[in-house]
Amino acid sequence: MLDSVLVWIDKNRRAWLDDLKQWLSIASVSADPQHAADTAAAAEWAMYYLRGAGMQTKLLATPGHPSVLAVTPEGLYPPGAPHVLFYGHYDVQPPEPLDKWLSPPFSPAQRDGRLFARGASDDKGQVFCHMAALVAWKQIAMQIPVRLTVLLEGEEEIGSIHLRSVLEAEREALASASTVIISDSSQFAPGIPAITTGLRGLVYYQITLTGANQDLHSGVYGGAVANPANELCQLLGRLHDASGRVTIPHFYDNIIAVEEAVREQWEKLPFSESDFARGLGLEALRGEPGYSTLERRWCRPTVDINGLTSGYQGAGAKTVLPAVASAKVSMRLVPGQNPAEICANFEAFFRAACPPGVKLSLECLSASPAALTPSDSPAVRAAMAALEIGFGKSPVLMREGGSIPVVNWFKEILGIDSVLVGFGLPDDNLHAPNEKLDLDCLYGGIRTAAALYDKIAGN
Ligand code: BES
Ligand code: MN
Ligand code: MN
Repeated sequence: MLDSVLVWIDKNRRAWLDDLKQWLSIASVSADPQHAADTAAAAEWAMYYLRGAGMQTKLLATPGHPSVLAVTPEGLYPPGAPHVLFYGHYDVQPPEPLDKWLSPPFSPAQRDGRLFARGASDDKGQVFCHMAALVAWKQIAMQIPVRLTVLLEGEEEIGSIHLRSVLEAEREALASASTVIISDSSQFAPGIPAITTGLRGLVYYQITLTGANQDLHSGVYGGAVANPANELCQLLGRLHDASGRVTIPHFYDNIIAVEEAVREQWEKLPFSESDFARGLGLEALRGEPGYSTLERRWCRPTVDINGLTSGYQGAGAKTVLPAVASAKVSMRLVPGQNPAEICANFEAFFRAACPPGVKLSLECLSASPAALTPSDSPAVRAAMAALEIGFGKSPVLMREGGSIPVVNWFKEILGIDSVLVGFGLPDDNLHAPNEKLDLDCLYGGIRTAAALYDKIAGN
């Protein structure tokens, strides 16, 4: 039966593309309250599409953006088939800066075998692969091979703030699943599909230093009062030593080293540091001494300034001491690092180092640990077989540097392991202008998803 499903999937490429373009036209920017109605509309669109695969859908309201829950009703799956949970997100990152897009972010456009739009890869395009595969199974076989629960959230890009309570509230509907499937990552390279077995965690802070009760003339007052911008630069500058190592006390304590066999396997992956640098327009890479670029991205922790704001930003010179300076700082965590301890040490570091004459405020905006998922299990083997069917190549095992907070919660709250089977590519421009999905990835992704549910069912 899978063969007929794959044939039908291949025959309907044009229709898949048109359908996905509809969804991508909806500006489901979760961070922007102005797009709340669009975000709700994207959830509705997903429910409509899932109903086309015969699934029963329900909108789960939260104090923020809703989640979508869909289940296969009795009769849509073979009795006794395994229960599988699919997770994805329908929200997207803000598209700014708009002037850097070659076509508008919410007017999906095809160029050179690629589909350009915000969300094309992260994550609507990849979620769509699964929804299309379900439609194909229903159409050709009148059945989906597994008992399936689909959970789509609308707040992944803002830290999944209400998803924990959704998991707790829906525990009964979700907990009997034997595995979670997530397609929200990428392949290793074009023609090299992959299973991702680890993600970094994330701690994110907003730091604000406040000085005098207003901006001051930098000649009249300069030298006599603390300048929040100077002081913030000093503090941030102390986060790393000259070699780039993080200086926060205990930052590297308890990190679980990567097994030698895994490291050796990563070394065999076809990765060129110079091509990587060239692709980014860089003459040289820079990172922690003693580690390869893949290790630095996949299994070493970071502290990075993500935003830095203070003082006069307009044309020409304005002589002024800013009253306020602020920074946004992300820390990417690896297995063994505890987000609560990292937060405590980070805050203590700033409080101890903050000089008199400025007021320090620290706000933690998100905190989640790194995630490791099995690299060998029946579900992983099913995903590997499915990738081989979908893309015609056998997959490699890799990790990713990005974060998907819910992976830990599935394990912690429901006791379920995830399989990360991504269809995107490393150059998809996630969170950046001109996000895209290669059409080969779209079609290969639909084929893979169709095969995956069949393989998990043991066919
Ligand atoms: N899909 C990404 C994470 C990702 C990117 C995994 C590339 C694997 C490869 C996800 O949508 C994302 O952007 N996550 C945020 C998490 C945050 C907002 C809590 C991240 O990593 O910055
Ligand atoms: Mn994503
Ligand atoms: Mn993202």
